Amino acid sequence: MLKKVSFLVFAVVASLLLILTGCGKDKEVVTTGKEEDANGKTLRIVTDANYAPFEFLEGNKVVGFDIDFIKAVAKEAGYEAKVESVGWDPIFVEIESKRADVAVSAITVNDERKQTYDFSVPYFLSTNKILVPEKSDIKSGDELKGNSIAVQTGTTGQEAVEKLLGKNHKDIKKFENNNLAIQELLQGGAAAVVADNTVVEEYVKNNPDQKLKVVEDSQAFNEEFYGLMFPKGSELKADFDKAVNAIYENGKYAEIYKEWFGVEPDLETLKAQQ
Ligand code: ARG
Repeated sequence: MLKKVSFLVFAVVASLLLILTGCGKDKEVVTTGKEEDANGKTLRIVTDANYAPFEFLEGNKVVGFDIDFIKAVAKEAGYEAKVESVGWDPIFVEIESKRADVAVSAITVNDERKQTYDFSVPYFLSTNKILVPEKSDIKSGDELKGNSIAVQTGTTGQEAVEKLLGKNHKDIKKFENNNLAIQELLQGGAAAVVADNTVVEEYVKNNPDQKLKVVEDSQAFNEEFYGLMFPKGSELKADFDKAVNAIYENGKYAEIYKEWFGVEPDLETLKAQQ
């Protein structure tokens, strides 16, 4: 009997502990300090925290340029927001089904995605680049042909490589996240990774011992702009567009940008896209 009771106590304590510690994984409540006019609603914001320096995990905490950016925008717009890392493919499912309110994940705005989702005004200029070992003699997009190329599934990187090699080409190795694509390169299973310039450049800078380099080819890869992604018809778009422009004007965007990239942003180029 005593044994039974103490087991029960143990079970209750253990599940309480689980609730207290386990559930918070990859989630972060962003307190914007504007609770009184936050419409009483906490927005659910989703990301794929495998894309440094835009979004990545520091312990259980989702951090990065995008995270600081969305915090500032949500605060400006008067919303409480909670950021959760759900993975790349799930972002699109969560937004389309309206289970999440906003996605921030270095998401390129393009015509295909615009058919299903709404996007904010652009907030970042990007392009795909090629990540290769220092000794590689790949010098252009064209020279990717005949090699195994690793990409993150469902990204513009995959799309760009398909344009060069052909759709569903056997040499294109697709991974659930970009870090896995880089691992494949490091293990010799791929000759290159194609992904957003800032991400591959950051990787090379942070991992000098891995002896990698970045190859650019502005002929093969287009200019892209990131946007916040909303469910089609979301009323948040107007508020968030206004807030993005407000932090362009009041210096907050430049402050965050300088913190992560060490240089001033080119606001004129971004604004010219609106
Ligand atoms: N900009 C690219 C795209 O929209 C890649 C984004 C990947 N983002 C991420 N968090 N994994 O397709």
